[in-house]
Amino acid sequence: MKHTTIMNNFTFQNPTKLVFGKGQIELLPELIPEDVNLMITYGGGSVKKNGIYDQVTNALKGREHIEFWGIEPNPHVETLRKAIKQGKENNINFLLAVGGGSVLDGTKLIAAGIAADTDAWEIVLNGVTEKQIPYASVMTLPATGSEMNNGAVITRVETQEKYSFGGDYPQFSILDPEVTYSLPEHQIACGLADAFTHVLEQYMTTTGQSRIMDRWAEGLLLTIIDIAPKIMANRKDYDLMADFMLSATLALNDFIRMGVSQDWATHMIGHELTAIHGTTHGHTLAIVMPGTLRVLKKQKHYKLLQYGERIFNITEGSENERVERAIEKTEEFYRSLGLTTSLSEEGIGKDTIDLIVKRFNNRNVAYGEKRNVNGKVAGEILVSSM
Ligand code: NZQ
Ligand code: ZN
Repeated sequence: MKHTTIMNNFTFQNPTKLVFGKGQIELLPELIPEDVNLMITYGGGSVKKNGIYDQVTNALKGREHIEFWGIEPNPHVETLRKAIKQGKENNINFLLAVGGGSVLDGTKLIAAGIAADTDAWEIVLNGVTEKQIPYASVMTLPATGSEMNNGAVITRVETQEKYSFGGDYPQFSILDPEVTYSLPEHQIACGLADAFTHVLEQYMTTTGQSRIMDRWAEGLLLTIIDIAPKIMANRKDYDLMADFMLSATLALNDFIRMGVSQDWATHMIGHELTAIHGTTHGHTLAIVMPGTLRVLKKQKHYKLLQYGERIFNITEGSENERVERAIEKTEEFYRSLGLTTSLSEEGIGKDTIDLIVKRFNNRNVAYGEKRNVNGKVAGEILVSSM
């Protein structure tokens, strides 16, 4: 039987205002309400080197606000607690994140922490209870889609744990493709891998649920495959970066997942690799996704065939040969970005696999569209990614 699933019921509402294009940071004074107590959050200082900090401060000249610096990649709850304390002391009721996914994700937790008396890590584990204070972003790194979604991923360094929580969406996000020109090559590669994998997590499940969601996802995959080599060759082309930025946003802003099954096992395993080894998020996905496809190729058989044909023009050979080819082409795509795709290339060994299996088992979790990626299957995926 080819089509066993139908479209699921769903509710869709994405309230984020997207402000896209050259020079749009100028619009900040109109976008941020007049009478708020504003805190602007930043990362480690890239914005001072590339002129984004100056653009933001010039636009907000005369507007009183405080700044919080030092939200690190894979934002640490230990740092965010300090921002929450400072926000409470200053009666902050609006946040503007200026940075990549980490600054914005961290700000989502600050927005929840300021509104509540609960400890920040409790919020990550148990969810938001009090309504978050409003927040918005100037997004400087196309990758996570955090600029137009309600998720955030937070790390607790003390215990090497990394989990996500959900809440409100940003009020607005400014996306100026020119701010990406200063990104290092590795961050661009990881951003392309992240956006590509977000589409796969919501697409590479089963066929026949929704023609429109399939075509929308395939449009994003084809676009990313088309622009990736051009971007890796020229990282300062406005039109390419505009397509990249918009692809990353559309890949994870709820648009391509209406009524369809989702996987996310690769992300959950990837978060463990980041938590334990600090591997950049997008890079973990390049390592895990090929393994996920190999281990679950029977379950994903018909979707892999559809993907192979529509994305990579794979039409020759037996069904099983076409499936293998589609998986190879996926791995080749990640490698074409300059990323490695196996644990051994990163010096990660069996002890890490055992630890991740143990963690999944202790938490009694199972991911994937069939909720069958438990500790045992996660272990198989990681062994396949050795
Ligand atoms: O901290 P600064 O100095 O700003 O430097 C950053 C950071 O070192 C730098 N950077 C950002 N914009 C730049 C720039 N450098 C030069 N020019 C620019 N324009 O890049 C480095 C990495 O930044 P980071 O924010 O960590 O990267 P990314 O946007 O990829 O975010 C990764 C985090 O997002 C989470 C990941 O798990 C990870 O913690 N994710 C969030 C999701 C969500 N909210 O929906 C979904 C994703 O699947 C992902 O899990
Ligand atoms: Zn991701």
